[in-house]
Amino acid sequence: MDPELLLDPETKAESTAFKDFFSTDSRFQYEGLVGRGGFGTAHSVKYVDPKRPGLTRFLVKKSLNREDAEEMLDNEVLFLKKFKGAMHIVQFVDIKDNPLDKWEARWMVLEWISNGTLSQFIGKAKKVGLSRLPNRTLWRFFLCLIRALNGIAWPSDHRDSETYLETPLKNEPPSDIEHGDMHGGNVLLADFIPDGEHLFTPLLKVIDFGLSTEFPPEMMHSAGTAVERNLFDVGKLMVCLVTMERRSDVRHPTLRNNPLTTTIGKTQVQTMANKIFEAQYEWLDPDLRTLIALCLAMETQNRPSLHNLTHWLAKSVEVRDAKWYKDVAMESDETVNTLCRDILFNAEVTVPN
Ligand SMILES: Nc1ncnc2c1ncn2[C@@H]1O[C@H](COP(=O)(O)OP(=O)(O)O)[C@@H](O)[C@H]1O
Ligand SMILES: [Mg+2]
Repeated sequence: MDPELLLDPETKAESTAFKDFFSTDSRFQYEGLVGRGGFGTAHSVKYVDPKRPGLTRFLVKKSLNREDAEEMLDNEVLFLKKFKGAMHIVQFVDIKDNPLDKWEARWMVLEWISNGTLSQFIGKAKKVGLSRLPNRTLWRFFLCLIRALNGIAWPSDHRDSETYLETPLKNEPPSDIEHGDMHGGNVLLADFIPDGEHLFTPLLKVIDFGLSTEFPPEMMHSAGTAVERNLFDVGKLMVCLVTMERRSDVRHPTLRNNPLTTTIGKTQVQTMANKIFEAQYEWLDPDLRTLIALCLAMETQNRPSLHNLTHWLAKSVEVRDAKWYKDVAMESDETVNTLCRDILFNAEVTVPN
C-alpha cells in the first residue's frame, strides 16, 4: 500500500468509515486500502470465523459516490454473476450479516487473491535480475488466460455453481462479452494448486469487469467478435510476459501500424506481434510464438478459435516437459517449479501496483 494515498481526504474518510463499520463485529479486521482507481477503491479485510476456516481474508471493492462510478460497479456485479464458479475469474464471497449491509454505498465483496498483479510479477522478476521466463511457464500462464476467456465466452449462469475448469462448449456459440480492460494490473496471481496446470505455476485470475460490454458483433463495425477482441488482449499480455515489459506496446491492429507478415502453415498472416520475432527472443518456442502471433493477427478472422487454442495449450502444458526442451536448465522441472515461488515469496523487492 502506498501511504501517500491516505493523504487524499476522501480516501482517508472512506478508510475511517470502513474501520468503523468493521469494528462492530469481532469477525472482521479492516486492514487497509489496496488499490485506488478513477472510479473506486479496493480494501482488504481479515476474517476469522470458526464456521468458515477456509476464509481468512476478503476484498471489498467500493465505487466512488458518483453516478458513473456506481454504474461501473453495477456493471461489474452483473458480469461477475455470470461467471460464478469459473476457476480463472475472480469470485464473489458471501458474508452473512456483513456490517457493510447498513452502508448506503455501492460495494461488493470478492475473494482475496493473494499473490499480486501480473505487472507486479514482471516488475519483481526483472528487479531480481531475471531476463526471461521459461517457455514452460509461458505455456501455463497462456493456458490460464485462455481458460478465463472460455469462462467469459461460455458464462456459467446456466451451469451448477461448483468451481469448474473453463473449457469451450461444443454446440453453443460463444457470448458477445468483451472484458474490455485486460491489462497486467487486471490479472492477478492466485495460489498454486496440486493439479496438472497449476502445480508449477500459480493460477491466474482475471479481475475488473467494470468496463465489460456485451454487444452483438454487427455493432462493433470491423473490430471482430468479442472472442477475437479478448484474444487480442491476451496476445498483448503474452507479449508482455515474453519481453518482460510491464506495459504493452503492441499497437492497434491496422495496416498503418506496420504489422509483421509471417507464414503460418501455408497462409500469410499479418500480426502485431512484431516484437517477439526479434532475434533477442530466439529462445521462444516457435509454436508458442505462432500462437501468440495468431492471437495478435491483424485480420480478426485469422485469430484462433478458443476450441483449437485451448486444445493446443492444454496439450503443450501436458507434453512439453524438460526432455522436449532438450533438458536445458531453464526448462527443467526444478526451474519451472521454483521460479515463480522465488519471485513471489523470496524476492525481497517491492514494486508498484
Ligand atoms: N480480489 C482481489 N484480491 C486481491 N487484490 C485485488 C483483488 N481485486 C483487486 N485487487 C487489487 O486492487 C486493484 C484495483 O482493483 P480493480 O478491480 O482492478 O479496480 P479498478 O477498477 O480500480 O482498476 C488491483 O489492481 C489489485 O491490485
Ligand atoms: Mg483495474
